[in-house]
Amino acid sequence: MTISTIFLLTLFSVIYGSGATHHLFINLQTLSSDYSSNQPYRTAYHFQPPKNWINDPNGPLRYGGLYHLFYQYNPKGAVWGNIVWAHSVSKDLVNWAPLDPAIFPSQPSDINGCWSGSATLLHGNKPVILYTGIDPMNHQVQNLAQPKNLSDPFLREWVKTPKNPLMAPTSANKINSSSFRDPTTAWLGKDGHWRVLVGSKRRTRGMALLYISKDFFNWVQAKHPLHSTLGSGMWECPDFFPVLNSGQLGVDTSVNGDYVSHVLKVSLDDKKHDYYMIGSYNAAKDVFVPDEGLNSEFVLRYDYGKYYASKTFFDDGKKRRVLLGWVNESSSVADDIKKGWSGIHAIPRAIWLHKSGKQLVQWPVVEIEKLRANPVNLAPKLIKGGQLVQINGVTATQADVEISFQVSKLGKAEVLGYLTDPQILCSKKGSAVKSGLGPFGLLVFASEGLQEYTSVFFRIFRYQHKNLVLLCSDQSRSSLNKNNDLTTYGTFVDVDPLHEKLSLRTLIDHSVVESFGGEGRACITARVYPTLAINDKAKIYAFNNGTSDVNISRLSAWSMKKAHIH
Ligand SMILES: *[C@@H]1O[C@H](CO)[C@@H](O)[C@H](O)[C@H]1NC(C)=O
Ligand SMILES: *[C@@H]1O[C@H](CO)[C@@H](O)[C@H](O)[C@H]1NC(C)=O
Ligand SMILES: *[C@@H]1O[C@H](CO)[C@@H](O)[C@H](O)[C@H]1NC(C)=O
Ligand SMILES: *[C@@H]1O[C@H](CO)[C@@H](O)[C@H](O)[C@H]1NC(C)=O
Ligand SMILES: *[C@@H]1O[C@H](CO)[C@@H](O)[C@H](O)[C@H]1NC(C)=O
Repeated sequence: MTISTIFLLTLFSVIYGSGATHHLFINLQTLSSDYSSNQPYRTAYHFQPPKNWINDPNGPLRYGGLYHLFYQYNPKGAVWGNIVWAHSVSKDLVNWAPLDPAIFPSQPSDINGCWSGSATLLHGNKPVILYTGIDPMNHQVQNLAQPKNLSDPFLREWVKTPKNPLMAPTSANKINSSSFRDPTTAWLGKDGHWRVLVGSKRRTRGMALLYISKDFFNWVQAKHPLHSTLGSGMWECPDFFPVLNSGQLGVDTSVNGDYVSHVLKVSLDDKKHDYYMIGSYNAAKDVFVPDEGLNSEFVLRYDYGKYYASKTFFDDGKKRRVLLGWVNESSSVADDIKKGWSGIHAIPRAIWLHKSGKQLVQWPVVEIEKLRANPVNLAPKLIKGGQLVQINGVTATQADVEISFQVSKLGKAEVLGYLTDPQILCSKKGSAVKSGLGPFGLLVFASEGLQEYTSVFFRIFRYQHKNLVLLCSDQSRSSLNKNNDLTTYGTFVDVDPLHEKLSLRTLIDHSVVESFGGEGRACITARVYPTLAINDKAKIYAFNNGTSDVNISRLSAWSMKKAHIH
């Protein structure tokens, strides 16, 4: 038994031995689930509660040596509704113990809902949460809650200020009361005043409204938003943080200077994806200035599959910035109700600026590697066009696979006449479409006879004297159940295929295929629900379906142990 397991068991007895209180949620819709015991799609090491609906991660923070995760949760069913802030704690971001909900409707300013928000550590290491409440008029307002007992490392009880709401739409500020939500972690300006962002829009112009406060209770709206873009629609869950210009360490959210860049991330409600821009924070003018060359539109995404409402926090223990995100289901609502749950969180990712300065790099937190067991390592080998190499010796539904390909000549790369949306390119050229260089990659959740499989692969193109590397996650054959969303995802990866290896790491977890290409430069998360490739029937292969041979320079795979999550 590991130290962390002992710790968590102690935690469980502390929590449940003390007679946990059960709050009643009045006045809320109920949708009971026909909870099924046959659960091939429940994850083993991705965060999810025992049942019901979850969405956004909220208020992540590290306090008293513990990581705290709050999340949007429906205690009554597998569809959205009755939302409370559920609360779990962890020593390692891998194993989690549940606590009672931290925030639930209890005062006029949140009686119709307790939606997303963030935590900030005030002077003297005092945590405070700002979150969106839905008031009796169904207006979105911003509220504050503080821990009742700072000596309690579990931060079990949260007290709302009677001054709530602290920010609200009025006839004077002309804020749309249906488009005013998701406060960020606050940061300190040079003037010693706190600043916080709230997502909003005016007609089609999406924006991050800026509020300023001396004492964290009295907030004044700044004249200008921190940033806005025409046509982007509602900005949900904004996140604004500095990243060091070099290296992989993270810094506190209030840090500014010429050695950092700033990242503005928003969840675009119209597109249902998380986008970010890299730029600088002009503290004198209190505006975000996107870098030249990087489009002023939102182009870059954290993840080119399913990933939404994400949020970072600074981990002052390991000096890193950690990203958490929600991954929704691709199954039908009827199937969600049948299985009794919906939604998971992605593996927490460390996040830093790539040395090019042009994008972020994301990598699963190192702690997840503690779950690795039964390593399988393949000696470097050639994989011929049309060849499949089975990866034996790992649990194919619960695995971590790292593979690297090396190509020595690029002459055979398919010429691309014009630049196309990479996702469309991936949909047109799935794993069955051969080209000079690619597709090559992994087949996961593959059934005997390949009636079902999900393919994650590279394909190299020549476009105007440049080599373009495409990374695809093709779900079109992932399940014989066609009620699922089988959309193919794809993105270009900024790697030089002649001088760099084409690396791919895929975390496989029963219904999750979470892929990291180019050492974290391109992430694609997919959800799949195979009907044949389940339990011990699933297989993993490396494959090359291009006309040229390629070398596998590295292949390491592990079975993943089950994490202790609830
Ligand atoms: C605060 O928490 C500490 C640590 O759990 C506990 O010993 C103490 O009794 C608590 N104080 C109150 C007033 O509940
Ligand atoms: C306010 O936002 C809601 C939700 O997006 C929208 O339906 C409504 O048209 C907006 N109202 C105005 C006056 O812009
Ligand atoms: C969740 O998934 C569905 C279907 O796969 C998609 O259409 C929807 O927009 C997603 N919702 C969010 C908020 O990501
Ligand atoms: C490889 O290509 C062939 C023919 O193009 C196709 O029949 C087969 O399904 C492909 N394999 C995979 C794994 O997609
Ligand atoms: C594969 O690697 C071997 C050994 O390094 C090399 O001789 C060969 O040319 C490579 N083949 C391809 C197709 O890259």
